[in-house]
Amino acid sequence: MDLVIPRLCLTSNPSALELGTAVGPGALYLARHGFATTGWEVISEAIDQSRRIAEAEGLSVTFEKVDATQIPHAGDAFDLIVDTYCSTHVVFDHERSRIVYSVRARLKPDGYFLITSSVYESSRRLPYKKVVDDRNGTV
Ligand SMILES: C[S@@+](CC[C@H](N)C(=O)[O-])C[C@H]1O[C@@H](n2cnc3c(N)ncnc32)[C@H](O)[C@@H]1O
Repeated sequence: MDLVIPRLCLTSNPSALELGTAVGPGALYLARHGFATTGWEVISEAIDQSRRIAEAEGLSVTFEKVDATQIPHAGDAFDLIVDTYCSTHVVFDHERSRIVYSVRARLKPDGYFLITSSVYESSRRLPYKKVVDDRNGTV
């Protein structure tokens, strides 16, 4: 985000949403950089933890339990929506599609969608390697 955020053309007081925020590193980063930030996550314990971190830092971030595959299309629109390895963890195509449609619905017209994901590349596939724990023989 250090590389990308400075390149964006943003209004003053921009808003940001992080999907699958976990314990909030991305959302907290954005709040530190002047975004009015919301973080959505499905794991309640992670939300509690991110709220504690935000409070300890004196940051105002809205952390809520929201399933990224069930985002209502009506609601506040954001200048920036960030998905760092959230939709990567969503298994079904139709659910990933729902995320994309929701992002489209909840982005401002000139908003940005920043996504970090991983792609399979056969050329980078490592040969199978069997790793055995010497202490107990676990493979
Ligand atoms: C690999 S972690 C990435 C966390 C964070 N974005 C980061 O960059 O450190 C993926 C997170 O997405 C959350 N997640 C997975 N599926 C989700 C869904 N359908 N809705 C919201 N969060 C989800 C997981 O619970 C997990 O916290």
